[in-house]
Amino acid sequence: MKEPSSAIIPFFVSFLWLCSTVHSILPFCASLDPPIKTIPTSWTSSFNDSLKFLPKKSQQVLNDFIQCLGETSQSNPPIYTPQNTSFPHVLLSLIKNRRYFTPTTPKPLAIVAPTHESHVQATVICTKRHGLQIRIRSGGHDYEGLSYVSDLPFVVLDMFNLRSVDMNLEDESAWVQAGATIGELYYAIGQKSKVHGFAAGSCPSVGIGGHFSGGGYGPLMRKYGLTVDNVEDAKLVNVNGRILDRNTMGEDLFWAIRGGGGASFGVILSWKIKLIRVPPKVTMFNVRRTLEEGATDVLHRWQYVAPKLPEDIFIRVGIQVKNSSQEGKKTVQVLFTGQFLGQSDKLVPLVNERFPELGLQQKDCFEMSWIESTVFMAACPIGTPIDVLLSRPKAPAIFFKSKSDYVKEPIPKHGFKSIWKKLIKIEKVWMQLNPYGGRMSEISESATPFPHRAGNLYSVQYFISWMEEGIKTTNHYIKLSRKLYTSMAPFVSKNPREALQNYRDLDIGTNLRNHTNFHKARLYGRKYFKYNFDRLVQVKTMVDPQDFFKHEQSIPPL
Ligand SMILES: Cc1cc2nc3c(=O)[nH]c(=O)nc-3n(C[C@H](O)[C@H](O)[C@H](O)COP(=O)(O)OP(=O)(O)OC[C@H]3O[C@@H](n4cnc5c(N)ncnc54)[C@H](O)[C@@H]3O)c2cc1C
Ligand SMILES: *[C@@H]1O[C@H](CO)[C@@H](O)[C@H](O)[C@H]1NC(C)=O
Ligand SMILES: *[C@@H]1O[C@H](CO)[C@@H](O)[C@H](O)[C@H]1NC(C)=O
Ligand SMILES: *[C@@H]1O[C@H](CO)[C@@H](O)[C@H](O)[C@H]1NC(C)=O
Ligand SMILES: *[C@@H]1O[C@H](CO)[C@@H](O)[C@H](O)[C@H]1NC(C)=O
Repeated sequence: MKEPSSAIIPFFVSFLWLCSTVHSILPFCASLDPPIKTIPTSWTSSFNDSLKFLPKKSQQVLNDFIQCLGETSQSNPPIYTPQNTSFPHVLLSLIKNRRYFTPTTPKPLAIVAPTHESHVQATVICTKRHGLQIRIRSGGHDYEGLSYVSDLPFVVLDMFNLRSVDMNLEDESAWVQAGATIGELYYAIGQKSKVHGFAAGSCPSVGIGGHFSGGGYGPLMRKYGLTVDNVEDAKLVNVNGRILDRNTMGEDLFWAIRGGGGASFGVILSWKIKLIRVPPKVTMFNVRRTLEEGATDVLHRWQYVAPKLPEDIFIRVGIQVKNSSQEGKKTVQVLFTGQFLGQSDKLVPLVNERFPELGLQQKDCFEMSWIESTVFMAACPIGTPIDVLLSRPKAPAIFFKSKSDYVKEPIPKHGFKSIWKKLIKIEKVWMQLNPYGGRMSEISESATPFPHRAGNLYSVQYFISWMEEGIKTTNHYIKLSRKLYTSMAPFVSKNPREALQNYRDLDIGTNLRNHTNFHKARLYGRKYFKYNFDRLVQVKTMVDPQDFFKHEQSIPPL
């Protein structure tokens, strides 16, 4: 087995920290989106090597599939097979996690990239007819690569050509196609209005298709809830290749796709969203504290305050390991990033009254339009042109493994101190805490499949990332992530230990190869959906009883 040449590493480093070293924010989003202009040939050659040996039988299935597509669609959809020079490029451009870009990662027989809805219908019909798995990819941000990797012979249905955003300011709504990114949606809103926004995630390159169908949260959630709490309609291609909307799919299926994961139920073509009103100016801030500067006390207090603040305020926490001012020593830095739907003269006194420990000052605050705030939230320096929202990465930058938790009782100070020790040992780790409360607590657990509502103080993400190639390194960091997760058990939700489905983690349970099973699926299903899992299974049984739309963590039919 040939590993890609390590000569590519310096290539990355030079671009990697683009959007943020200056501000020393861990460039979570930026680091995943280095502006790579050309893909090093060492990548594609190892890719090419791994593509050469298509078994005869697969070649035959592929030929039949392509013929079926031609016969079933009104026009021929763009299709890429390993014979096309651009195949590695197309596959790579929407891979986010380098763990799923190695010579041994299973590759699709073909990538179909519809330019018309009928192409999606044909792809569903023909993959089904020829016994191929379908993997649906919109933005490719799946943490475990499920949108472009499968152990079974498979085709990637790549939605990137279907990316229009149709705004209707009159009724304050928009139709967005699944292949658009969050950044493209935000940009389109910003172009049309200074006083409208939308409640979705903070990483511009995330795809609408996966993000929405997993729930979607972002800095507006304490005021407006999740992305799916602001969705009014959807268009989907079902297992028979029919296009359905909310009316024709019925409320059960419409409920299921708003948080239950789209890929268990069909192919989402587009969503109709309800825009939200934002003030012409919002206020953003970053406040950093290291351990030496009392970070533990401030963070401890944050747990009591942040979930109870007025809904107009969202203060998230980013935690990372840093060099301390003492030569050769490490410390932990806690970054408080705030968004306030209003101006700083209101914000500063409000925060100082409720959360004086933070020590927020006027000079920490930046007033800007909502659209500019989305760039700020993506960890880009102030003044970065908003066009950055449109930039699309060309290739993955880092290897990563992520996990999630929910906290319902404040973690004691000594708890944080033990966590710091573990983080400093791992070093290449980043944690993000997102406060709940507000609107999130008002919406019932069963309103959508997303069950993490009242009773949660905040969500936790653990994110370990590295640059060194090779299975040994990968296994090392995965082991560390599991140890960290185990050590967090005393502080987080139990029975089930809840997890955020959009932060997919195959460690919490998976299906067998080519076979879903209710009892196996219930393991991860309860963590992602609590009791909504049962209703998801009912809907699945109704709409896809043969279990065509399946993957390692899909919803099984009964
Ligand atoms: C850098 C980064 C930042 C993130 N920030 C946030 C955040 O702020 N808030 C948040 O909530 N989440 C966030 N996420 C998680 C993100 O929402 C999920 O990974 C989401 O599933 C990605 O959607 P996608 O379309 O980009 O991914 P994909 O990998 O394309 O798809 C993810 C899953 O959805 C399925 N799917 C994709 N498109 C369709 C479709 N059209 N129809 C049916 N099924 C489909 C795929 O098959 C796969 O199972 C972040 C992820 C990353 C990597
Ligand atoms: C990979 O294969 C394509 C065509 O199959 C070819 O055009 C390209 O040059 C190859 N890349 C490398 C680095 O060998
Ligand atoms: C890929 O190659 C085939 C065969 O040469 C060609 O018909 C097809 O148009 C190519 N696909 C794209 C997207 O160019
Ligand atoms: C941290 O310190 C180490 C040496 O102890 C050094 O190699 C590294 O570059 C430093 N990192 C930063 C970001 O300054
Ligand atoms: C997977 O299962 C389906 C039926 O559920 C079957 O048609 C297909 O051949 C199986 N594929 C493999 C590779 O076993």
